[in-house]
Amino acid sequence: MLLKTLRDQFYTELTEHYPETEIQSFFNLLSECFLKMKGHEVSLNLYAPISGKKTEKFENAIKRLKKHEPIQYIIGTTEFYGLPFKVTESTLIPRPETEELVQWVTDVSTSKTENFSILDIGTGSGCIAISLAKSSPNATVYAIDVSKKALIIAKTNAKLNKVDVEFVELDILNWQNEPWNMEFEDVKFDIIVSNPPYVRQLEKAQMSANVLRHEPGLALYVEDDEPLVFYKTIAEFATAHLKDQGQLFFEINQYLGTEMIEFLEGSNFKDVVLKKDIFGNDRMVSGIKMS
Ligand SMILES: C[S@@+](CC[C@H](N)C(=O)[O-])C[C@H]1O[C@@H](n2cnc3c(N)ncnc32)[C@H](O)[C@@H]1O
Repeated sequence: MLLKTLRDQFYTELTEHYPETEIQSFFNLLSECFLKMKGHEVSLNLYAPISGKKTEKFENAIKRLKKHEPIQYIIGTTEFYGLPFKVTESTLIPRPETEELVQWVTDVSTSKTENFSILDIGTGSGCIAISLAKSSPNATVYAIDVSKKALIIAKTNAKLNKVDVEFVELDILNWQNEPWNMEFEDVKFDIIVSNPPYVRQLEKAQMSANVLRHEPGLALYVEDDEPLVFYKTIAEFATAHLKDQGQLFFEINQYLGTEMIEFLEGSNFKDVVLKKDIFGNDRMVSGIKMS
């Protein structure tokens, strides 16, 4: 089949399902992945023949896109903080807001001249831990997740990006009873960062089909009556495992900024700061552990 015919069929099949700009963006990403051709190369090679095997790959992608599967899962990779990350349905697709959290932690870390340690809680694809390990070579980075499958991907991503991160399987909600806590009883971190699950069930109605149907519920949702459950548990953990004057960073639910400030100020944290993301939503908080 000619590339032009393949492209025309791709647009026709998806036109009912997505706006044209999105279809164009999907076709460019898939061409780069399956044909190793960038957008302008496609335009220059419209009459090039495409093998049956490659055509099949596009047909399969069309089927998956019709089911609203995210393009990142179809391609199997995404970019975060300028780095490549493998993603599967066991890992959340890293979001641009989280890059801003990484930037904030990096800005604080660059002032540290001595060696220091960072723990990322709920690492998923490993995007936060790996980006921080890359941007802060004098940091020892640890990362935990309850999901075995996510940790396998996170380890692959650490190798892909050539950084050392110590990954640990742990249910943070049960940290006091986990063997990890005993093993690392005396470990104290300079920085703890987390983007935990924070979407309430009541917010599901605002979410798009690709997130609802395909991204892992374990990574996203909390119960409506306990929206801060992860933050409260992580703050307790941080009280035990942060050094004095150590810093805690959270990505948060945009609707719970005020609650988060009140909660941290009422806990063992001072100098609490709330920041907005590029979309103007309350998205990140930080606090310093009191001595
Ligand atoms: C919102 S995702 C964040 C993933 C990644 N850090 C990011 O920013 O894209 C939350 C992560 O927390 C993990 N998680 C959920 N419950 C957990 C628990 N009880 N203990 C540890 N990790 C948990 C999920 O598996 C998921 O990877």
